[in-house]
Amino acid sequence: MNGQRETFSSGLAVFFATLGSAVGLGNIWKFPYLVGEYGGGAFLAVYLLCVAFIGLPVMWTEFYVGRKTRKNPVGAMSMLSPGTPWKHVGTMGVASAYLIMFFYSCVAGWVYYYLFKAIQGDFVGITMEAAKAEFGAVVVGPLSPVLWQFIVLVVVSSIIAFGVQKGIERMTKTLMPLLFVLILICDFRALTLPGAGAGVDFLFQVDFSKLSGAAILTAMGLAFFKLSLGMGTMTTYASYFTADNNLFRTGAKVAVSDTMVSLLAGLAVFPTVFSFGLEPGAGPGLLFMTIPLVFSQIPFGNLLLVAFFFLASIAATTAMLSLVEVPTAWMSEEYGVDRKKAAALNALIIFCIGILATLSVDKASFLGSYTWLGRGFFDWFDYLSSNVMLPVGGLCFVIFVRRHLSWEELRREFSNGGALPLGGMFTFYWFSVRYVTPVLLGLIFLHSVGVL
Ligand code: TRP
Repeated sequence: MNGQRETFSSGLAVFFATLGSAVGLGNIWKFPYLVGEYGGGAFLAVYLLCVAFIGLPVMWTEFYVGRKTRKNPVGAMSMLSPGTPWKHVGTMGVASAYLIMFFYSCVAGWVYYYLFKAIQGDFVGITMEAAKAEFGAVVVGPLSPVLWQFIVLVVVSSIIAFGVQKGIERMTKTLMPLLFVLILICDFRALTLPGAGAGVDFLFQVDFSKLSGAAILTAMGLAFFKLSLGMGTMTTYASYFTADNNLFRTGAKVAVSDTMVSLLAGLAVFPTVFSFGLEPGAGPGLLFMTIPLVFSQIPFGNLLLVAFFFLASIAATTAMLSLVEVPTAWMSEEYGVDRKKAAALNALIIFCIGILATLSVDKASFLGSYTWLGRGFFDWFDYLSSNVMLPVGGLCFVIFVRRHLSWEELRREFSNGGALPLGGMFTFYWFSVRYVTPVLLGLIFLHSVGVL
């Protein structure tokens, strides 16, 4: 079953596919709304530290596990440590993938829906009040958000059914750079709005007195979510990497590029928020309220808006591909389920439970009023996956490396058998994985449950 495994065709394809997994709704939707909710610069500073000292080491670790074993996370852990419970790190990853997709498919549905509305010209000359009302109406539905969520899942599972090379590579290689250019155009427009400076200050002025414990945990969760870590996505992708790939360099390039996209998205959103007098802490609707305003009063604005939501749909779709790939590879390799059947089955599972997330966003609805400890379905799926399961998964990967793998073995794999000079990168990795990353993760967890 694991005999002839496909690989990506080149180093460039590896980079873009991995970046395609990392860049997604996390950058353009989640990052700005969390920065807004948790008060700006200080949150951003913690986030950047988490990317460097927790995210990168975990990413490299997942790369190691995936490329070494060339298996899905469950198979990979069983191979590296046969007959031990370590394989359940992989099982937990499969569970996290589902949890994330329950709400991710909902937000991707909103993006598709906004694309559709932009094509129809619904946002031409829109005002701030109308932009707010529009988002409110979109999430209430109840039929349309569910329908769009369904469409997202049909698109994603069809691509997955075609296989790794044909499906994932083709989309990511061409469209990622385009998204980048379009965000730059947004930035240019947003930064020239009257009063844009207040938005830039909000994003970059660090005031640690505003930082709560919840903010620190969320910043760490965001780093995991952003870089697709802690559940085996990167393990699964690395299992398709070419043998001569420079894992350290790929990881660093992905982390830096991904962070740049998030920052550029922030530079489009916050100047607009402050210029139009929106609330930075408006929550999950922040992106959807601001972007139509960015383009509302400029020539070719609607065309640019269509392009933005088109590329945002692509980014959401490629990121979802990497999520669905985890349970699909798991079902097909561990249980011999045909790939196409596995893709369809997963879409069905995600749709049935994802509806709960979608219908819980409107607080006035029946499902929306159903909360537990202050969170509804959408928020619980999000909170549990990003702030709990991904970091726990990441911690497991790190502890695994610490316990099972020697300096020599890690050096051998990261240098591709001695072919690559490693320089200081390896030392940074070794110390992070052994000391810094697990200690930081532990401290943040203890802090969040109130022990520290
Ligand atoms: N990183 C993606 C984003 O920012 C989402 C994502 C894709 C993800 N695969 C993942 C998150 C795996 C966590 C784990 O939109």
